[in-house]
Amino acid sequence: MSVPEEAALAPAAWWQSAVIYQVYPRSFADGDGDGVGDLAGLTARLPYIASLGVDGIWMTPFQPSPQVDQGYDVSDYCGVDPLFGTLEQFESLLEQAHALGLKVLLDVVPNHCSSEHPLFQAALAAGPGSPEREMFHFVAGPDADTPPNNWQSVFGGPAWSRANPASATDNDWYLHLFSAGQPDWNWRNPAIGEYFEGVLKFWFDKGVDGLRIDVAHALFKAEGLPDSPSTGGVVDGLRSNPQVSDQEEVHEVYRRWRTLAENYEPHRLLVGEVNLEPARAARYTRAGEMHQAFAFAFVKLGWDPESWAAVGNELEAARLLHGATPTWALENHDIVRTATRFGGGDVGAMRARAALVALLGLPGPAYLYQGQELGLPEVDVPLEARVDPMWARGGVCRDGARVPLPWTEDPALHHGFALGTAEGPPSEPWLPLPAGWGRYAVERQERDAESVLNLTKAALALRRKLWKNEVFTADDGGTWRVEAGELLVCERNEHFLIAVAMGAEPVQLPAGTVIFSAQPLEQEGWLQPNNAAWILTG
Ligand code: NOJ
Repeated sequence: MSVPEEAALAPAAWWQSAVIYQVYPRSFADGDGDGVGDLAGLTARLPYIASLGVDGIWMTPFQPSPQVDQGYDVSDYCGVDPLFGTLEQFESLLEQAHALGLKVLLDVVPNHCSSEHPLFQAALAAGPGSPEREMFHFVAGPDADTPPNNWQSVFGGPAWSRANPASATDNDWYLHLFSAGQPDWNWRNPAIGEYFEGVLKFWFDKGVDGLRIDVAHALFKAEGLPDSPSTGGVVDGLRSNPQVSDQEEVHEVYRRWRTLAENYEPHRLLVGEVNLEPARAARYTRAGEMHQAFAFAFVKLGWDPESWAAVGNELEAARLLHGATPTWALENHDIVRTATRFGGGDVGAMRARAALVALLGLPGPAYLYQGQELGLPEVDVPLEARVDPMWARGGVCRDGARVPLPWTEDPALHHGFALGTAEGPPSEPWLPLPAGWGRYAVERQERDAESVLNLTKAALALRRKLWKNEVFTADDGGTWRVEAGELLVCERNEHFLIAVAMGAEPVQLPAGTVIFSAQPLEQEGWLQPNNAAWILTG
């Protein structure tokens, strides 16, 4: 089968074929020179994102926040933190993104807020037994030193803090699955559901195209908050923890949100961070619930064909059971960059290229994380510069995937991260840029035909064409296998397969025509180690 030049658009909804570019605003571009990326910087760089050929952006939180967890501790869900700009700047960003043909998705954080949120402050002030405390999980412990149950925070340490440690009469503790600055909402109180529907409407009314839902599976906890048999973090690890997360009641929330999203034209999109094993995660994208949920079992894989194939087939089984096509990602702001995770150095860089090519050929929507198109490695951020609360509480450090992007080879203005201000030199970036960062710069890669950046653009352009010509369709699934020589194969449909050489020797490819590869093929019909190819088979 050949790829014709022009054909009618396939009838799939836009989000079924979409590739969304995740923007971590504080590290994207700094418009005001204060060392933290912002809306002005992002707006100025939107044409770059459009030039990649993606369908839209997902912006991680920029709402008012004490920034304890880099914005995932929200103190006002319907505003813009002055660190990032103003609501007017956001409206202008949205308009300009739309003019460039980019959808804009925001992050909504419904599991918890900031301890500075006015409703949490009111609950602290109102005291034990008050209706204000019913908005959160305030529970008296057996004594002043013992929390109400054994739950551990995802970031490490107990998931409980004393409400008022100085008081002899207030014995309440409050629940926080993450840091103490992020109290969990009590979703069993109907007022919380109403509150968040107001938040959704606020952003949808502004024209926002969709929402990524943070820790989407954890909103409801088991009635009575019983002890957990799990000793690890309470919502991580792809396990359905029957005490803490994945409660049946949460699905009703997403059914309501889906109805709300479909009250708008065009329909708004819901994508969930559902960090559960495939069979459980797929239940969140059943008909009438969310449109997309990240395939978390896939997000964290190492360079190992057997686990890719096993997870791929598990996701396919879940798709067949629940009609839920997986949403693919290999990087985000919480996990180690692929170039490092897959081995580091030149080998890691080659594997990251191959993985990116594989990712963009998989059946269903995909997300790229800023800097993935540049092949950025994880940065070993100096100990004294680390700010991640997870690190501070004894967990892993996520700062290494959050270092500001290099735009120019020249180190001036922090490799172009700062756009330059009239008032003199910009402040140091919130995380330091490592030596040699300029070799990954956008400007340099734009000039280099072999760069990861140009590879990404070419893959996205070909992907679009394959969708247009119905070589890719919304009905595609994935049948995965490992052939001799550690060749990973994912058959997308009867016309198309992806092959990734994950072993140490060149491997013979399945029959067909190679239409794209991460590195040029050295010998027809063979794939060198750490290369990936798209193959038309019939
Ligand atoms: C998932 C977010 O991606 C992560 O960055 C954050 O720390 C937790 N949720 C808590 O909101």
